[in-house]
Amino acid sequence: MDKIKLNKLPTHVAIIMDGNGRWAKLKKLKRVEGHSVGIESVREIITTTRELAIPYLTLYAFSKENWARPKDEVTTLLTLLSVYLEEELPLMMDQGICFNIVGELEDFPKKLQRQIAGVIQKTADNSNLHLNIALSYSGRREIIHAVKAIVEDVKKGVIKKIDEKIFKKYLYAGNIPDPDFLIRTSGEMRLSNFLLWQVAYTEIYVTETLWPDFRKKAYLEALREFTRRERRFGKVQEG
Ligand code: FPP
Repeated sequence: MDKIKLNKLPTHVAIIMDGNGRWAKLKKLKRVEGHSVGIESVREIITTTRELAIPYLTLYAFSKENWARPKDEVTTLLTLLSVYLEEELPLMMDQGICFNIVGELEDFPKKLQRQIAGVIQKTADNSNLHLNIALSYSGRREIIHAVKAIVEDVKKGVIKKIDEKIFKKYLYAGNIPDPDFLIRTSGEMRLSNFLLWQVAYTEIYVTETLWPDFRKKAYLEALREFTRRERRFGKVQEG
């Protein structure tokens, strides 16, 4: 396989981690076991992102719509998140990972909210990799949330005009660059309400690989494909 062109790697990778349920079904396991193994992929993808010095990674872990899943599945996902945060904090500190979330944190049990806030605070000064996890996230709700905050600030006279640059500042993670590359595992060709504003010019990559099987090799293959893409941002091809 060709060597990856490090100077052409994306600055911000976003991933829709899909297919845990299907992976478990194929292996005749319970859906929640797919999520448990999915955590191993999360670890491997974060470590690889760090090794490649890609500075921003956003993972879609739990959508606003996911609350409608069976109660035991939701409980398992929340428990996995809590255990993950507890186990990974030392590694985040060691590798200089700054942790943040995008989404509606207030939907979570108070204890988990406090744990998440603690990890955000402890890792705030790290800067090697900005890791954002989308939790109770909905792209449409994020846009409405931004519009409401803008209306308030216009009323208060804090802002006088609204343009793309100002609008972006009101998104949950308004200070980070838009994703250059969006990966979706397990073959579905949709955005599922993920980062709707931010993906306007993002390169999209869909792989049939199910999330628990999406490891370093598959990730490098996706990134290699990105390095071959020609990005035009709506302009004509040069040369
Ligand atoms: C989609 O698979 C995956 C999810 C809804 C959850 C993703 C969560 C994890 C990988 C673990 C928790 C993450 C962190 C960061 C601690 P699906 O269940 O929709 O799969 P299916 O479409 O095959 O049913």
